[in-house]
Amino acid sequence: MAPLLQVNNLKTFFYGDNSIVKAVNDVSFDVRHGETLAIVGESGSGKSVTAMSILRLIPSPPGEIVGGEIFLEGENILAMDEDRVRDIRGNKIAMIFQEPMTSLNPVLTIGRQIAEPIEIHQNVDRKSIIARCVELLRKVQIPDPENRTEAYPHQFSGGMRQRAMIAMSLACEPKLIIADEPTTALDVTVQAQILELLQDLIKSGRSSMILITHDLGVVARYADRINVMYAGRIVEQGTARNIYNTPKHPYSIGLMQSVPRLDQDTKEKLRPIEGQPPDLGDPPPGCSFHPRCGFATDRCSRESPPLEHSGGEHWKACWVDVDSAN
Ligand SMILES: Nc1ncnc2c1ncn2[C@@H]1O[C@H](COP(=O)(O)OP(=O)(O)OP(=O)(O)O)[C@@H](O)[C@H]1O
Ligand code: SF4
Ligand SMILES: [Mg+2]
Repeated sequence: MAPLLQVNNLKTFFYGDNSIVKAVNDVSFDVRHGETLAIVGESGSGKSVTAMSILRLIPSPPGEIVGGEIFLEGENILAMDEDRVRDIRGNKIAMIFQEPMTSLNPVLTIGRQIAEPIEIHQNVDRKSIIARCVELLRKVQIPDPENRTEAYPHQFSGGMRQRAMIAMSLACEPKLIIADEPTTALDVTVQAQILELLQDLIKSGRSSMILITHDLGVVARYADRINVMYAGRIVEQGTARNIYNTPKHPYSIGLMQSVPRLDQDTKEKLRPIEGQPPDLGDPPPGCSFHPRCGFATDRCSRESPPLEHSGGEHWKACWVDVDSAN
């Protein structure tokens, strides 16, 4: 079966006075029907720019999508006219942002805001729209949903606002949900509730999700597959099980060792990755991880490794076989 979304050789750059920031530099991946694909990587690795490129929301200037294709059910988003892209946003692809207040309008009731995408994208009468709003609020576990449609965002708690925003995102039953750090602003209990809720929706079969997060615990629990990004590229790609249990790229290995894991007693073994991610306006030559990499060879500072198949559902961009180097 063809994937829901296919991203081929995506390049998104930002043009400054003296430099070009190659925020996403030749990135390819797909999202299958009914799966959760995680994108992980340190701050500035290009995760959000990848997401914004899929929705064609890159601010221009200074940004520009300079290359690639993004097929949604066979249709290239990068070749669509503006009207068609607007139709796709909120209808076929919904984005859940980190901070709900930035995407909720403080002067409109919650019900109004949930109704809006339904009104714009679907041809249904007023009564059905209200019924749908109530149903959506119930689905995201807002108590007393019949009366809450008339509430304003400030009358909701942070967790409720986040859930209301998810209800808004789901109003048109999107094929793809992009959740960019959806829970970092929330406490742990609400975080778990929201992720469980999203997961139920994905597993009910009608949607897929791209989950962008720093939290590898979340990834282990919810993702089917993982893209590890570093300095604007995917450096490792595969099933969550493969990458979590047997990472093959030194950067992914570093990431796994830098966070606590449920399945290991890592208290004294936690090791942050030393050094900083590169300046994307002036990245090092060769493999951009080489200044921080304990496995680096001479070749690494000269040639950039391509993403290559390394057995099963597993790809990595690294010149060295870390298993035999150990
Ligand atoms: N509007 C912009 N103008 C200029 N540069 C930008 C802009 N947006 C992003 N960038 C640059 O693109 C690079 C990738 O940023 P991006 O927001 O995708 O990182 P991220 O992986 O989402 O990080 P985080 O985990 O902190 O959210 C960064 O170097 C950033 O400075
Ligand atoms: S290519 Fe070289 S520098 Fe880059 S991750 Fe692999 S070993 Fe490290
Ligand atoms: Mg981001």
